[in-house]
Amino acid sequence: MSYVVGIDLGTSAVKVLLVSRAGKVVDEVSKDYPLYHDHPGYSEQDPEDWVKQTKLALKELTERIDDPSMIEGISFSGQMHGLVLLDQDSKPLRRAILWNDTRTTKECRDIEQNVGLDRLHAITKNPALEGFTLPKLLWVKKNEPEIFDQAKVFLLPKDYVRYALAGDMSMDYSDAAGTLLLNVAEKTWSEEMCEKNGIPHSFCPTLIDSGQETGTILPAVAEETGLTTTCKVFAGGADNACGAIGAGILADGLTLSSTGTSGVVLSYEATGDKDFQGQVHYFNHGESSAYYTMGVTLAAGYSLSWFKETFAEDISFEELIAEAKASTVGAKGMLFSPYIVGERTPHPDSAIRASFIGMHASHTRGDFARAVIEGITFSLNESVEIFRSKGKNVSKVVAIGGGAKSDLWLQIQADIFNADVVTVANEQGPGMGAAILAAVGSGWYSTLSECAKSFVKYTKTYHPIPENVEKYRQLFNMYQQIYQSTKQLNHDLAVFR
Ligand code: XUL
Repeated sequence: MSYVVGIDLGTSAVKVLLVSRAGKVVDEVSKDYPLYHDHPGYSEQDPEDWVKQTKLALKELTERIDDPSMIEGISFSGQMHGLVLLDQDSKPLRRAILWNDTRTTKECRDIEQNVGLDRLHAITKNPALEGFTLPKLLWVKKNEPEIFDQAKVFLLPKDYVRYALAGDMSMDYSDAAGTLLLNVAEKTWSEEMCEKNGIPHSFCPTLIDSGQETGTILPAVAEETGLTTTCKVFAGGADNACGAIGAGILADGLTLSSTGTSGVVLSYEATGDKDFQGQVHYFNHGESSAYYTMGVTLAAGYSLSWFKETFAEDISFEELIAEAKASTVGAKGMLFSPYIVGERTPHPDSAIRASFIGMHASHTRGDFARAVIEGITFSLNESVEIFRSKGKNVSKVVAIGGGAKSDLWLQIQADIFNADVVTVANEQGPGMGAAILAAVGSGWYSTLSECAKSFVKYTKTYHPIPENVEKYRQLFNMYQQIYQSTKQLNHDLAVFR
């Protein structure tokens, strides 16, 4: 028996999966770590917490198997964009600034000014967003010059953990694409982006493929974790790329809807030469030479968990969903926009806030929960509609994450997307994508697609119900008016926050 391990370095926890040759998850361990919000809009983590908890998780995992040398390879999925700034001794100079930190609005406007929108989109294929890495580098340069002056190189979260485990300092293309410093189509660091924004080219680490072997486990780490020094370490990829691999999104025509804390609609692209003018993200895939386009709802699962924690603490999620099921299509005439932490696609706006529209004294908690679920799905549908407007065929959507755990939400997705929605058996999210990268790297399969065909099984299909599709079409038109109708009010309210 031999195994691979997929390490999913998330925002709230690291999850390690032990996967057999048959693609079965035979064991898993999860360890959490703190998030620091020292000021409104700030979101930071200590890179050493990631390393410590990953090692602990690996130790717990290896203690539970007879012979840890059976673990042939490991790879990573990482939360994207987080800035890990290292000094000349490769030590972090400050806490990492994370993807959901929104302090960098001014730096985003500066980047647009420095480079010009056309060049920005032509080179990076993406808009300048607060979450991305370059604005964070500029923020440190301006606000913490004494730290910036000591910086030698930057890494992204999973690259720092890989460096700690295997000693190799590099970054894979799928994650580098989220920095705003990569020429996404050419797969090289952009000298123009570096120069025009005053970032030394030497800050950018070596670029590699997600499936590339980067060495083996360091002896000291082997002692701490129980892994052996023969265990191969593969680069890994961005969590969204790995989520796509783990759901089998490895061919044209396949779309993914993923509802974690944030929500993502992602579509496979065979080439990097399309022009979405920054309306959606356009990133390199974990599969060498492939790409994906993606829209992001910042608070997807987070909107529902916020609602539950705030208004339905005493009941279970299942009970809340049952209450929502008892409501109607359109939540008895109520809409929700899920902007509780601002929004990304299609409204990159960190000051926008959420709204319930159409509240009436007769509305129950279940109606509100239904409006929240529908509002999150409408937001995801904005991305689906952008893909369709560019000629993409979105007829089959693979659903993963919290939104794929309830029949009600899956049917709502099918009805709002007007597409078949399929679920994945024993869905494991991005960790499975990382395990697939390790399995292919270890030589178990020759391609990611071949491995995914054997590891990823689709189960149930939810077909759109025509009557609901028509009602949701009308409701979506109304939902789309909420942003413009509430924008000014929310921007004015910002001074009272
Ligand atoms: C993608 C993004 C999030 C993070 C979550 O652009 O910011 O999906 O990757 O970890």
